[in-house]
Amino acid sequence: MPRDFHESGLGCARRQGARTIASMNTDRLSAPRPRIAVVATGGTIAGVGGQASSPAYRAAVTPVDELIAGVPGLEQLAELRAEQLMQIDSADFTDERLLQLARRVAALCARDDIEGVVVTHGTDTLEESAYFLHLTVPSRKPIVLTGAMRPATALSSDGPANLRDAVAVAAHPSSAGRGALVVMNGQIHSARDVTKTHTLRPDAFASPHGPLGLLAALQPRWYRALTRLHTADSEFDIARITALPLVGVVAGHGNMRAEVWQALAQAGARAIVYAGLGGGTVPAYLASTLGDLCRRGIHVVRASRTGGGPVMRNAGFDDDACGSLVIDDQNPPRARLLAALALTRTQDASALQEVFWRY
Ligand code: SIN
Repeated sequence: MPRDFHESGLGCARRQGARTIASMNTDRLSAPRPRIAVVATGGTIAGVGGQASSPAYRAAVTPVDELIAGVPGLEQLAELRAEQLMQIDSADFTDERLLQLARRVAALCARDDIEGVVVTHGTDTLEESAYFLHLTVPSRKPIVLTGAMRPATALSSDGPANLRDAVAVAAHPSSAGRGALVVMNGQIHSARDVTKTHTLRPDAFASPHGPLGLLAALQPRWYRALTRLHTADSEFDIARITALPLVGVVAGHGNMRAEVWQALAQAGARAIVYAGLGGGTVPAYLASTLGDLCRRGIHVVRASRTGGGPVMRNAGFDDDACGSLVIDDQNPPRARLLAALALTRTQDASALQEVFWRY
């Protein structure tokens, strides 16, 4: 009796593309295929070089047409419209490039002849771009980001299977209205939750409450739903955003220096996210620095460096006395983006705090 399996990240997508996709989707071949845009931005999924004995490789080399051609049978899942929006290491994503990506994805989602969008992206800042799209693209159409931990030329490249899975999720009607999704290693994560948690492993992406679902026989199977606002229900529409205000992030550790906070203020930061110790605890020796910043109208936003759990108001620090804010459970890079977007709508501390509770 043949067993069903979902192979992912094992470097066998070419073989599997020819066999599994064809056999599992014969019913779809006669039906009109969903039209899916594939927007390529670079990253390791488009990387070249690198073997186990010599891990150095170059990210952002292979063009999108070749990535698609590397997954035989992909066109059976969807009619693909591929474009190379940029070809960069995701470390080079600036706010300007983030805005460019969001504008392009929003424009594609607005088209009647596109049912969903897949973005291929480097994994290092994938979670930030995903969250930005989650908050700013006013559409219920599936937006799915994927990447790879191993370059296309590696023996065990995970890119082809991830791309196939991302297209399968974007093409499925049940993926609509769930916000931006991150599909990696056979799992479907919400852009609100997912974080890269490992430097090497193909199962590097994880969400604190688990993924929303997974792929079973190339069909999404959902186990959780989001309760927070996103995409079509978000108040942040990329069409109305021309630039993001500067929001800095300061890492929490022993023996911190006030000068780091002051340098960000001098650089023009409108808010500073504190990647805080434990539940966002502020050491006593920094309390007056943070109070000064708040009095000058620079918002201090307490987050946590732990990777999980909420930061509670007035616990570990007197937010009411200082005028500081807490970000709930968002990790510091996402807190930066949410704070920057919120600052495009309001400067008021309590209104900002309300935004942080809603998203
Ligand atoms: C990048 O983020 O562009 C390089 C690393 C990766 O994609 O895994």
